[in-house]
Amino acid sequence: MTCTLTYFGHSGFQISDEHVSIAVDPFLTGNPSATIKPSEVKCSHVALTHGHEDHVGDTLEIAKANDAVLIANYELVTHFAGQGIEKSEPGNHGGRIKIDGGNWVAFTQAFHSSSYEGQYMGMPAGLVLHVGGRTIYHCGDTDLFSDMALIGETYKPDIALIPIGDRFTMGPELASRAADLIGAPRVVPIHYNTWPPIEVDVSKFRPSTASVEIMSAGDCITL
Ligand code: NI
Ligand code: MN
Repeated sequence: MTCTLTYFGHSGFQISDEHVSIAVDPFLTGNPSATIKPSEVKCSHVALTHGHEDHVGDTLEIAKANDAVLIANYELVTHFAGQGIEKSEPGNHGGRIKIDGGNWVAFTQAFHSSSYEGQYMGMPAGLVLHVGGRTIYHCGDTDLFSDMALIGETYKPDIALIPIGDRFTMGPELASRAADLIGAPRVVPIHYNTWPPIEVDVSKFRPSTASVEIMSAGDCITL
């Protein structure tokens, strides 16, 4: 089994094996770092961490075009059902959703907020995605919290995707501590340098042991 992780830029990824292809936080339109258009995304699922525009992004267009299953919390799924996304797998923190091929997605805590078009969208989340025998922890948008150690211990992620852009999430120093708590051998910094307010020096993201893999939009890692 092989799992591939392709970066959309900002917090967006496509995570695929031979059974599923999950677009996570597919924000392309209006994303200055994006290299593809929403119409080029082919996927079986769309998964969302929370309701903010820079994460929901092109969910509606991509889910409809692919007849994809939306994996998100109850509030987001309900909102998008009203917009015509017919297939969904609603969940919430602590829950795990089984999808095709023995793969699954679990919702974890994230310290942030969540709304969409002025409407409350439930609790923001991190996502743990088990695809092709590999485990990926997408932290979502969040502050540092000590239970990241518990998430690391529970799911033993092969790779963690950690926001480092400061202002709305952790900056690089706190994100380095987050990486140490999670304990994944590989980490990818996300949610930085998309716009001036979240410009940071990525070299300040220095976890103690994890190897830092800096991705540009369009880059792909095979796990
Ligand atoms: Ni956010
Ligand atoms: Mn964000």
